[in-house]
Amino acid sequence: GTIYYGLIKTENIEFPQPVFFKRNAKINKGKAKINIIKRLSGKYDFVDWENTGKLILGYRIVDEAGLMIYDGRINLRGKGPFEPDVTMLEGPFVTLQKDYRVSIAFKTNKPVVCSVEVDNKIYEDDTPVYDHLIHVIDLEPYSEYKYTVKYGDWKETYSFKTARQKGSRQPFVWAYASDSRAGAGGGEREIYGTNYYIVKKMMTLAKAKGANFFQFTGDLINGYTISPDQTNLEYANFKHAMEFMGRYAPVNVAMGNHEVIMRSFKGRISVDRFPYDQCSAEKIFADNFVNPLNGPEGEDGAKYDPGANTVDFPSYKENAYYYTYGNMAMVVMNSNYWYAPSRKIPEHSGNLHGYIMDNQLKWLKETINKLEKDNDIDHIFVTLHTPAFPNGGHSKDDMWYGGNNDRRAYVAGKPLKKGIIERRDEILDILINQSKKCVMMLNGDEHNYNRMVIDSTINMYPENWDKPKLKISRPFIQITNGAAGAPYYSQEVLPWSDHVKKFSTLNALMLFTIDGEKIYLEVVNPDTFEVIEKVCVK
Ligand SMILES: [Fe+2]
Repeated sequence: GTIYYGLIKTENIEFPQPVFFKRNAKINKGKAKINIIKRLSGKYDFVDWENTGKLILGYRIVDEAGLMIYDGRINLRGKGPFEPDVTMLEGPFVTLQKDYRVSIAFKTNKPVVCSVEVDNKIYEDDTPVYDHLIHVIDLEPYSEYKYTVKYGDWKETYSFKTARQKGSRQPFVWAYASDSRAGAGGGEREIYGTNYYIVKKMMTLAKAKGANFFQFTGDLINGYTISPDQTNLEYANFKHAMEFMGRYAPVNVAMGNHEVIMRSFKGRISVDRFPYDQCSAEKIFADNFVNPLNGPEGEDGAKYDPGANTVDFPSYKENAYYYTYGNMAMVVMNSNYWYAPSRKIPEHSGNLHGYIMDNQLKWLKETINKLEKDNDIDHIFVTLHTPAFPNGGHSKDDMWYGGNNDRRAYVAGKPLKKGIIERRDEILDILINQSKKCVMMLNGDEHNYNRMVIDSTINMYPENWDKPKLKISRPFIQITNGAAGAPYYSQEVLPWSDHVKKFSTLNALMLFTIDGEKIYLEVVNPDTFEVIEKVCVK
């Protein structure tokens, strides 16, 4: 293959990235030779390494077929010979944003003690680690702070903003999208596992539009691997694109079906990879991202738990959670928990795409209930990867399965009591009938943008439905936006198609403005800046 390379300047640069040198180098048996002294000196040395003896080399590995495998960086020390130095491989990312604190997450290539400096205060790791999570506290709400990450004798400075004070009715902006697995078209639309091009455009546009956080719900990568290492590589490429906003504001991610890591058996059978606490999709996701820990534990303890004293399920920690910002709350669910991708679940047990199991449902109900009682919160958003009502691409699954309510999770050979459509209704009942504040459901999975309004006139059952029908007590919105770069799907005809208000196959970044009681939405193509729609949703 080929390696492209270039120097990265970090000082006084908002978006450090390599400025690629005009020549590349060939990779032979896994090695490439780059003559830094000859190529990157003199008029090509814009980082002053010839004086300081320090440089950051950005590089991109492309295989013989033109597929980009990895896009990363390495810090080097010396004036020739050069040695690899402590490098910040990923990040820094602003995470766990509150009105009085944030945490800065980043990854280094060796275990070292690093620090973050804010307002002349220094926050430090306790011990040398690869994965750093440094908490910055005692901050003022909705205030911008510069922060400097120090690793080895290197430093990089970015900024973050704390959240609007909980209960504040002052305006703010945030962004939503999902489904950025690799797309067709060549080039950066596929950097091994992810649509780097569209994600980068989305992140820079969201930042330019002043979004204070980004919610990104599932299918970040191609995934469906049997190897945590392969998934980690795909996540690394996603995170490098995510850095364009993530260094300044949180990008809160959730799981979709493509995050799955499988254990596969003969006969095309595949289940969530076990042991769950070491290599499940849930565990590797939690290792790669930093999310709140306020979700449910797991499905242990439910009626169908096969062993009272053993841990039989993966953890929900960091893949189901909620957070608040000003007067809104975001409840993030995992609709691909304990996901067994083979369509033979009655045979080998496991959960199916789009099915919410009992303990997560209970947590949803309790969380919505708690937020309903919280006087600081006016608006609740619920996001999960699979829509209740598929409109283009997933009519055969999500929470519909072509109208087949037989589809459900199996545990230890036994089916759960509720089928997929009954479970969909229980979720809708909680969000619509048992809640006044819940505004909408935000989904992905379908690679398009579609907005629908659900009300009492909607036809949402298969023709032969013999079970009770849910009464919809008030209008409720479902927006699916899986248009962050994965290959597109066009609109399908379904019983509720007359309730679809807008459908687009353009790449779509959603920007919400919450202004007290009001909620405005602008949907923009991040590639061309074309406005797809502008609506007042509340
Ligand atoms: Fe999906």
